[in-house]
Amino acid sequence: MRTKIVAGNWKMNKTASEAAALIDGIKKELAGFTQVEAVVCPPFTDLKEAAAACAGSNVALGAQNVHWEASGAFTGEISAAMLKDLGVKYVIVGHSERRQYFGETDETVNKRTKAALAAGLIPLVCVGETLEERDGGKMESVVVRQTKAGLDGLGADLSKVVVAYEPVWAIGTGRTASPAQAQEVHALIRRTLAEIGGKAVADTIRIQYGGSMKPDNAKELMSQPDIDGGLIGGAALKADSFAAIIKAGA
Ligand code: 13P
Repeated sequence: MRTKIVAGNWKMNKTASEAAALIDGIKKELAGFTQVEAVVCPPFTDLKEAAAACAGSNVALGAQNVHWEASGAFTGEISAAMLKDLGVKYVIVGHSERRQYFGETDETVNKRTKAALAAGLIPLVCVGETLEERDGGKMESVVVRQTKAGLDGLGADLSKVVVAYEPVWAIGTGRTASPAQAQEVHALIRRTLAEIGGKAVADTIRIQYGGSMKPDNAKELMSQPDIDGGLIGGAALKADSFAAIIKAGA
């Protein structure tokens, strides 16, 4: 039985003081609720305050990116050890916005994933096709390629990762994949994970759905057999809507 995991990707939103207030609000909404793992992924500059706000609660802390090198002359980058030291548990890797705007490739996704795992962080590895790719009949090949390349060479660590399926056309558009559309791709990802690491491991890996997940569609999406949670953008920026989505996974 896979425990569902719902993570809020705050993207470039919220100052450190706003982060603490939002996490306090989420904690109040989720008091006593432990059936679903809840994670917040604020910007780097918020992590210290966010860690203090999350301490001792049922809300875990994640970051939005990590560099693959341990240290050195990489201006503007953040290492896995820096995140770990702040109490970060999860890190988003390979988000489509990083692929689209910041030159992220399957190869760098793989390097970041390995660096995160080596430091004891759990990567939330994002995959997903663009509308052009879907309309061009390439959804399957893109999702399989991103999954295989992003998770290449992990060995026994494969079982630790979380995969997030985020169809690019559903992100921030209000256009959600239907539960059947999402389930089809989640099942494809799970078959791909089985090819990489065997069925027993694939059956334990959590696969989140992301892309306009909201309180009113979360339950139906997370009721699908291969949808094990959500990666939430816009609706994660308010305590009540984020908590409602988390509770919908119970
Ligand atoms: P929205 O929930 O705003 O569509 O964003 C999804 C996302 O990109 C989460 O990583």
